[in-house]
Amino acid sequence: MADSTREEKLKRINESIRAFPDFPTKGILFRDICPILKDPKSLTAVIDLFEEYVRQNHQDVELLVGLDARGFLFGPLLAQRLGIGFSLVRKRGKLPGPTVSVAYDLEYSKAEAEIQEDAVAPGQKVLVIDDLLATGGTLNAACALMKKQQANVMGCLVVIEIKDLHGADKIKPHSVFSLVQY
Ligand code: PRP
Ligand code: MG
Repeated sequence: MADSTREEKLKRINESIRAFPDFPTKGILFRDICPILKDPKSLTAVIDLFEEYVRQNHQDVELLVGLDARGFLFGPLLAQRLGIGFSLVRKRGKLPGPTVSVAYDLEYSKAEAEIQEDAVAPGQKVLVIDDLLATGGTLNAACALMKKQQANVMGCLVVIEIKDLHGADKIKPHSVFSLVQY
């Protein structure tokens, strides 16, 4: 994929995203990223484009923080490309040792995001990564956790952004970089 143009990479990624109506509940159009992972060229394209963006805009990033669960599919690959570490934000109750958590709202319920206390250092420059931005509740919780730990959030990265839901507004002043928008 290294020789492909940006447009060719985006086309390949677009073709690898499927839509399932009424999943997980009626009225939701679920954007499925599984085919990206099944197609090495699509997955490489995702990591290539994220890497290009980070190298051009956030050269001084020190740590990538990924969200449970689908942020884990892309985060470690990108972190390795960039030569930086990767830390996990998990749903509550999955991490051992001292942890810090924040509660956030899902569409019809509540959830808690949690990190290990030593996952990020005060002042550390971090980028946050997930597969998809919808309402912004999940990324906002991750940014709140970073703030609690006095980390410096430089921005957020997602493969897919659902524009109609205005999630980017929720995570302001942090920026969002997305590869595909609906
Ligand atoms: C999905 C998606 C994002 C989040 C976006 O995760 O992977 O993390 O919702 O929604 P929001 O912007 O409205 O918060 P979900 O927790 O449903 O499942 P996952 O564990 O498979 O990632
Ligand atoms: Mg998720």
